[in-house]
Parts: sequence; C-alpha cells; structure tokens
Amino acid sequence: MGFVGAVRETTPYDGQKPGTSGLRKKVTVFKQPHYVENFVQATFNALSEKVQGSIIVVSGDGRYFSKDAIQIIIKIAAANGVKEVWVGQNGLLSTPAVSAVIRDRVGRHGEKATGAFILTASHNPGGPHEDFGIKYNTENGGPALESLTDKIYSITKTIKEYYIAEGIPDVDIGKCGTSAFTGPSGPFNVVVFDATEDYVKLMKQIFDFGAIKNLLSRPEFTFCYDALHGVAGIYAQKIFVEELSANPGFLLNCVPKEDFGGGHPDPNLTYAKELVQRMGLGKTAPAAEPPEFGAAADGDADRNMILGRRFFVTPSDSVAIIAANAVGAIPYFKAGLKGVARSMPTSAALDVVAKALDLKFFEVPTGWKFFGNLMDAGMCSVCGEESFGTGSDHIREKDGIWAVLAWLSILAHKNRVPAGGKLVSVEDIVRQHWETYGRHFYTRYDYENVDAGAAKDLMAHLVSLQSSIPDVNKMIKEINPNVACVAKGDEFEYKDPVDGSVSKHQGIRFLFEDGSRLVFRLSGTGSEGATIRLYIEQYQSDASKTGIESQVALAPLVEIALKLSKMEAFTGRSSPTVIT
Ligand code: G6P
Ligand code: ZN
Repeated sequence: MGFVGAVRETTPYDGQKPGTSGLRKKVTVFKQPHYVENFVQATFNALSEKVQGSIIVVSGDGRYFSKDAIQIIIKIAAANGVKEVWVGQNGLLSTPAVSAVIRDRVGRHGEKATGAFILTASHNPGGPHEDFGIKYNTENGGPALESLTDKIYSITKTIKEYYIAEGIPDVDIGKCGTSAFTGPSGPFNVVVFDATEDYVKLMKQIFDFGAIKNLLSRPEFTFCYDALHGVAGIYAQKIFVEELSANPGFLLNCVPKEDFGGGHPDPNLTYAKELVQRMGLGKTAPAAEPPEFGAAADGDADRNMILGRRFFVTPSDSVAIIAANAVGAIPYFKAGLKGVARSMPTSAALDVVAKALDLKFFEVPTGWKFFGNLMDAGMCSVCGEESFGTGSDHIREKDGIWAVLAWLSILAHKNRVPAGGKLVSVEDIVRQHWETYGRHFYTRYDYENVDAGAAKDLMAHLVSLQSSIPDVNKMIKEINPNVACVAKGDEFEYKDPVDGSVSKHQGIRFLFEDGSRLVFRLSGTGSEGATIRLYIEQYQSDASKTGIESQVALAPLVEIALKLSKMEAFTGRSSPTVIT
C-alpha cells in the first residue's frame, strides 16, 4: 500500500519538557490537538540524521490512550523516513522488555533498533482522567540523556510543522505479522511481534530456569505474584506459568487493563493491598496460610516489591542480598560482579556487602540513568534504589521480573539440599544476612502535594542548619541525649566517574557518628505541588539487636528529623502521606 508524507502546520505547547522518565501528563493534556504529534516530531527532529532508514520500537504498559498514540506515532515515523516500526502485540512491552528489544532484537538483515517510544506513566494510575506518558530510549536501551531531552524540549517550543503519512490505515496491532507500505523514501513496515519473546530469551540466558522450576514444583513452596493489572502480567504468565510450570493460581491481577482496574499500580505496602493481605501483612488475618514468597510490579514492570510470609523486604536490603548471593545463585554472574551501585538515599546495606566482598562500589544520585553510564563502562553489575527499583547490566532499565527471578534463584540455591520439608524462607535469608552484615533499619516518610514555596523554605532551613553542626548537635542532645552526634552535614553532589559530569543539590544529608543518616530531598516525579521525602536510616551491627521492630529502632531518629526540620511548622502536616 502506498502513502505520501503530508506536512501539517502546528503551534507549540508549553511544558513539553521530558524528564528522564519522559513526558508525563494527564490523558486530557495528551488528547489536545497535535499534542502527541508535536512531541514525537520534536523527538525525530532532535534525532536528526539517525531517523532516515531506522527501526523504532513503539509500545508500553497498555494504559488508556496507548492504542491511539501508537497509531499516531506509526504515521509520523513513516513520514519522517523511518524504515520499520516494531510494536509488541497489543501495543504491550514492559519497560525492561523494551530495553532488551533495543539491545538484542535484530531485523531481517541483522539490524538493530535505533530507539523506542515507551508509552507509560510508570506507577501512576491510568484511565481517561489519569496519567499518560511518552518516554524515548536510545541505542543502549536506556532513557534518553539530558542532552537529548533538552534538545527535544527546545524544539517543542518553536515547532511549526510536523510530517504525517497519508494513506496508512490504522494497523492491526492485535495480530503478530508485518504490514508493508511504500512511501516517498521506499518501503515502510510495521512489524507486530510477541511481546514476551525477546525478554524471555534473555531471562533464560541469565537464570537457571531448571533450578527455579524445581523450587516451584515443591509442594511446600507457595508463591503469589501481583501485577496490579499492569504489563507485568503477560510476562508473569509466560515465565512463571508456561516456562516454570508454576500453579496459575499463584498469579494475581495479571491481566493488563487500561485503567489498572482502577488501582494505583505501585508495588508498595500501601498500594499492593491484595497481595499484602494475602501475605499476612494486612490489617486483618488472611483467609489462608500466606504463601512462602510474594512479589508485585508497577504498571510498566520495572519496579518490584519482595515479600516473605508475613515479612517485608526493604528494597535497600533486597539489592544488598541479591549482590551478596548473586555469584553462587545466578549463572549470569558466575564470573563475579564488576561492581555494585545504589542511589544516595538507598540504605548503606549494599556498602557493607561491597566492602566485605571487595567489590567496586558507587553511590549515585536518584535516577536510573546514573547507573547506565557505569554499566556501559563495565563498572557495575548489580544496582538498586530504595524506590523499589532493582536491576543489573543485562539491560539499561530497572527490572521488576528480573528481581523476582533473582530472589527465586537465591531461594532455590539456599534450598538446593531439601531439609525435611522445611524451607529456608525469605525471612530466614534476610535475618541471616543481618546477622552476617549488620542491619540498616530504614524508613521513608513522604509528604505529598505540599505547597511548593513551603517545601523550598524547609529545604533552605535545613541548608542553613548545616552551617553550624555544633548547634545542630546541641539541639539533638536537648531532644534526646541518647542519639549520636552529627559528624557531617552536606548537600549530595556527584561527579560521574565516566563522563566527568557533575550533579549538584541531590539531597540534604545529615551523617551521624554511628553511621545513621537523615536525608531530605524533593521528589522529581510528583505531578502536583511538591513532595518532600525524608529518609531515615540507622545501622546496627550487634547481631543480638538486629531483630527488633524497625519503627521502634528508628523512633528516636524520626523525632530528631521532624524537630530539626520543623516539618509541621513548614508544611502544616502532622504526619506523612505515605510511610514506606
Ligand atoms: C523514577 C526513576 C527512579 C527514581 C525515582 C525517584 O522511578 O526511574 O530511578 O528512583 O523515579 O523518584 P522521586 O519521586 O523520588 O524523584
Ligand atoms: Zn515503572
């Protein structure tokens, strides 16, 4: 079928500034005339000579408006000289699967994709009145760097026209196969493919599926995976049920829905309610004995939450435990780890493992892109963030299903010699880890939708406190003489060891003499007002004290943090919106 490239006049929209997680707005904003067209054209303009004859991937978490956006992007790609658009069946691909497709999938002549438009707003709700997003990932499979997103943004401010194919009907993305067209610069194909095949292939290269299958076949091993109606459901069905023969009854909310069933697809103790209840961590007793292992993902399946029976694994502990056990339990790492990394607000549990195992270690600002640089340079194998992101250098995004397979591998490894029907549980593994390495008690308080001015004032107050640490210590001793003194206060700054770039103002830190830390930062992902995050951490190396309740252990530091920051006076909030 033939098509022509039409030129359409347009006018710029304000605020099309993509962050590293892309352009994220309400669906109603995206539905404005030419809104998607402007942004996609601006991206192609910014990519300039890379576009002609390229292959571009377009897919996402299946949220409301994805199907419309895919058809628009196909037509704009065709008119801009793209040779092929690759679409996951039904427009679905998880964010980690997109990264794998860019890195590993090859076309008929061995060519790889140049990049991808990922249609997702991650863990934000979906539906006609909720969020949509478009994020561009580049050749290495990771999110576009700031140099590119800045360029895209500046083009959106002056855009006057876009190109769109006339003569291409809406492509059926429900069926695998190729739709062939011919345009002014030659053939143009839309290839719809099985959304799971590349990702499953990669997971099979990384993990010992046989060992995990053995674990899942043991009658005493029960499991529950909650996809919160996000895109993880299709991978869970394929990997856990079809490949690993898990009981299909282990899957919860694994049918992707445009509105995530009306829920908030964020895997934490607040939003993954059904899973939390089943695992025995809800407010009331569960209907049945909780499963041995539970996990959840966010909308686009890059985040994960790991649970044991009546037991929550903090994301900071999770990455440390994966790093400590990776070499023995996961074939991909059998030659050793190149290095490990965590984001600054993530607890120092990983630091202790790195030190004990003599591994290269990096502390980077919040945001996955900082890990990407280290991985491209071969300096980092495993990394993680307190915000429920864990991953490795197999791709350039965090990876929710990978984290679950890593935990299943560790469980399989620890249980390789069956011990009379009693499994080494998730809780056993975590407690053993604390005994060996000490425990980092950890909690995060989020104050959402705070007045932006008030949030700025609070941060300025904290910076001014840091000019006199002796005064801070005087205040601490007046509040609670048993709390250690602050040794150092600063604003976190990072110099990228690969490209030398410097990132400043990445969070305000109070570092205590006993290794405890208070960190304050403003969220970079909130959509209304400002979100203040307060991270509280205390290290306990005495094995006889690592078992106490986290909230009990942290209570003195919480009091200090709230009083030092004057949280209530600045924000008017007597308690946080969410505690994780
Ligand atoms: C996204 C990024 C993560 C980052 C998180 C931080 O999920 O992919 O890498 O940790 O945002 O969000 P925040 O709201 O704390 O800035
Ligand atoms: Zn996500």
